[in-house]
Amino acid sequence: MSNFFLIYPNALRVLMYKNGISEQIIYVPLQAIIKKVFMSKYNFDEIIDRRGTNALKTDALLPRYGNADLISLWVADMDFLSPPAVAEAIIERAKHGIFGYTCPSQSYYDSIINWVGNQHDWKIKQEWLTFIPGIVKGIAFVIDCFTTKQDKVIIQPPVYHPFRIIPTLHNRPIVDNQLILEAGKYKMDLEGLKKTIDKDCKLLILCNPHNPGGRVWTRQELIDIAEICYDNNILVISDEIHSDLAFAPHKHIPFASVSEKAAQNSITFMAPSKTFNIAGIVSSYSIIPNAELRDKFNKYLESSELEEGHIFAYLAAQAAYEDGGEWLSEVKKYIWDNIMFVDEYLKANIPQIKAMIPEASFLVWLDCCDLGLSQKELISLFVDDAKLALNDGLMFGAGGAGYMRMNVGTPRINIEKALDNLKKAIEAKQTRS
Ligand SMILES: Cc1ncc(COP(=O)(O)O)c(C=O)c1O
Repeated sequence: MSNFFLIYPNALRVLMYKNGISEQIIYVPLQAIIKKVFMSKYNFDEIIDRRGTNALKTDALLPRYGNADLISLWVADMDFLSPPAVAEAIIERAKHGIFGYTCPSQSYYDSIINWVGNQHDWKIKQEWLTFIPGIVKGIAFVIDCFTTKQDKVIIQPPVYHPFRIIPTLHNRPIVDNQLILEAGKYKMDLEGLKKTIDKDCKLLILCNPHNPGGRVWTRQELIDIAEICYDNNILVISDEIHSDLAFAPHKHIPFASVSEKAAQNSITFMAPSKTFNIAGIVSSYSIIPNAELRDKFNKYLESSELEEGHIFAYLAAQAAYEDGGEWLSEVKKYIWDNIMFVDEYLKANIPQIKAMIPEASFLVWLDCCDLGLSQKELISLFVDDAKLALNDGLMFGAGGAGYMRMNVGTPRINIEKALDNLKKAIEAKQTRS
């Protein structure tokens, strides 16, 4: 049997021949073919109701925003199902029914070593790795372990707010080395950093890639900061939680991999939590090439058994790293299209708001300064008028006034509705005034 194909405007006609005689005619709708050939096997458009699951993103709306009925685009997790392998591994293990004390397996370590090697070209050794129960907690542990009261901690705002909150709660003064906004992108103020440093500065917390600006720092920027910190005896925490979500052509560079000074003077934190949307499972880890720093940190952790993970953390991380690669590349495409959608929508409909296009991750930093509103009015516009829950830019510190952070790790329809609400709210406000 030989086949013959004819393409119609909306269908493919397949004539099946046998001995020169047409036997069968099949019409295949072109949409179905396009879907089969080009579409993801994961349905990120699916709306999944998270309310009532104790999801912070939905179930904390009322206490935090005063209204449970908002489109929720704040805290940094995604509204997509995690890679199927994660749930499968957890369900399979749960079926066993005995949940006794658990140790990390060799394959758990191997999965991390392979992932970091393959994704980020960084060859790490197993002894450099230690489980930690969350990166924010890891920051607190480093502060406790390596600094004393009144030692100063340098951060680069606008930045992920716990970088300020955690040291402050530990009575460590904060030194702001504010990022410079240039041509719509942030860059580090390295000259400012050199001038700001004094002998009391003992720790710098680097957000690599940056939240909320979405920068994937260049090798040179990282080399420069490593040099300055090493020469001034300032330990660097490199928080690389968003590293797997860099968009090509940008490529994440692990801080500790850029130079010997960086490797010997840093503690890196990584996790599968943002990458595979498993923040609730809590499965982060530290990577410390310097043996002296590592011993000190690990002893600190061991003194409270903080380095002990849990049964599902090890399993979920391994399953995600071993089987989540395809899911990750699909979700990144979807997120990127969401980012482009936000940018195009704003340009066409709300030109007073500009999106900073992130080089990594699912957080879009919105410059709302041209609306000419106070921060209080801006929040009221989003929450009360447009019924949206975003992060207030000011919580990220200096440089955050006039900004809002939008989480686009959600089905596109939510973004469309959110932006339509915002457009209408702005038009209504303009009509009132
Ligand atoms: C830069 C950064 N670090 C850390 C975290 C939180 O990490 P964890 O949940 O492991 O404490 C987030 C979450 O948004 C983040 O953006």
